[in-house]
Amino acid sequence: MCGIVGAVAERNVVEILLEGLKRLEYRGYDSAGVALLSPNGDFSRVRRTGKVQALADAITSENGVGSTGIAHTRWATHGGVTENNAHPHTSSDRIAVVHNGIIENFGELRTELRDKGYTISTDTDTETIAHTVHSLLDTNDTLLAAVQEAVTKFSGAYGTVIMDREDPSRVIVARSGSPLVIGLGVGENFIASDQMALLPVTRRFIFLEEGDVAEITRREVNIFDVDGHPVVRDIVESTVEHDAGDKAGYRHYMLKEIYEQPTVVRNALAGRVSLEGLTPDIFGENAETLLRDVKHVQIIACGTSYHAGMTARYWLEQYANVSCNVEIASEFRYRKSVVHPNSLLVTISQSGETADTLAALRLAQELGYMSSLTICNVAGSSLVRESDMAFMTKAGAEIGVASTKAFTTQLGAFLMLTLALGQHNGMSDEARDDILNGLQSLPSKLEETLSLAAEIEDLAEEFADKHHSLFLGRGEQYPIAMEGALKLKEISYIHAEAYASGELKHGPLALIDDEMPVIVVAPNNELLEKLKSNVEEVRARGGIMYVFADKDTAFESDETMRVINVPQCAESVAPIIYTIPLQLLSYYVALIKGTDVDQPRNLAKSVTVE
Ligand code: F6R
Repeated sequence: MCGIVGAVAERNVVEILLEGLKRLEYRGYDSAGVALLSPNGDFSRVRRTGKVQALADAITSENGVGSTGIAHTRWATHGGVTENNAHPHTSSDRIAVVHNGIIENFGELRTELRDKGYTISTDTDTETIAHTVHSLLDTNDTLLAAVQEAVTKFSGAYGTVIMDREDPSRVIVARSGSPLVIGLGVGENFIASDQMALLPVTRRFIFLEEGDVAEITRREVNIFDVDGHPVVRDIVESTVEHDAGDKAGYRHYMLKEIYEQPTVVRNALAGRVSLEGLTPDIFGENAETLLRDVKHVQIIACGTSYHAGMTARYWLEQYANVSCNVEIASEFRYRKSVVHPNSLLVTISQSGETADTLAALRLAQELGYMSSLTICNVAGSSLVRESDMAFMTKAGAEIGVASTKAFTTQLGAFLMLTLALGQHNGMSDEARDDILNGLQSLPSKLEETLSLAAEIEDLAEEFADKHHSLFLGRGEQYPIAMEGALKLKEISYIHAEAYASGELKHGPLALIDDEMPVIVVAPNNELLEKLKSNVEEVRARGGIMYVFADKDTAFESDETMRVINVPQCAESVAPIIYTIPLQLLSYYVALIKGTDVDQPRNLAKSVTVE
């Protein structure tokens, strides 16, 4: 979604800003812009629709000079994708603003601002920030004070950076609902919506908290909390790899991230679980005490993370004897729900900043859950900071918009949670051994599964001209079928639906013909015979099937069915293993179709608005 970069330095900051924007491209955007200010007050602004490269190409030695600057990639919400709607927005040629989030009361603000004589010249909500701050400069001594008063007038979400042409020595930043991180340099300081943007210039960061307003100059950073009191926030040394944004020779980030899975899963398990069991305290210092009494788990997430939660429900109930509900965050947050006794709230998120998941956590905290745990990939993110316990998935930076390695590490985390809760709820030795053995061999099984790539690339040829597809699975493979369908639709734009295969005859069977490929996820488990009956139902109606199956299932390829043998594995980890061929399938179909694999149309990596 939208990205922000800003800098206050002695040197020209234009390259720092452009490089920062490039490093945020993965988040998804449709236009980009930069505003620069020189010490003598010279101001320039350049904006372009399309890629950051189009913006870079428009920068010249005249318009590309400034030691203070703000830059932005916009993912359109209010107003179409036009140069005029691209950030930075200005007021009276004095104030320039970039903004992530949505100012929900922009309509009322516009009316007030028009009454004060301001002309509204864009369709955006952001323009109201610029005029509101400008209008408050008359009654406030400083830009900082004007911004502190302005934010009291905004409802909605914002991470915003504001620059004043009459004072090139500073920028003011404010955070409420959209993350901002300050990067500390030597004699220069920076701001961004994501530390990735600033890794080429610093590794020292301050993550702003909700309601913070900060003043950033070359030498100082002064932070004020929501009540306007000066506060000191911790400085964090980043552990994110500087080159996490490189493709390492792969054609796309998504492919690189698919192939990283054996390594990141190995890292995520290391030191946390062995054949003997779980290492104590992996969920945090007090987690042992908190988890002992848990009798119910409520999982909340969105998208791919929601699919991880759905898979976990099968594991928690089957292996750990703990009841579990799973709900999409955007639904949970707007309905009245009943909290079960001794209930643990679990949020899952790659980014830790998904607006709906965060809002659901905040709501749930008022409802009486015993405790909250987040399973998350980004240290210092809002979900991590606001949950009682945080379990890091350690997948490393995920750049491709379509989530891959974050998902498989989330599933690994859930198997560890299943072990942790199972030990207090009568988990059988058999179940425990299956999970421990499965996790032990998981990285090597993932490697083995990746060797199916050539076969799947070949199969993808048969998909590329299709418009619709159906994914089938049963039990804990049903959410994996859902995840496979989501991957295919988001990067290849082929319509894909997932069904629990027992549901076929209740409606979707009507869709079956030879133009509708049916993908079946069929590991060798106790539901195999049921699944085979469902496969026969499809075959009897002339459907063409692609079956991912363990060779003991005895599925055989023929003219209506193509079988791809997936390596045999412990039952508990089969959902993780079967995810891999479906990721590869969507990748290769997208490659043939020539779509933008890493930044699919209309999508954003981190969904920080509702
Ligand atoms: C799909 C995908 C999205 C995210 C969803 C939640 O490939 O990545 O569906 O899973 O937007 O994002 P996080 O996990 O960051 O909360």
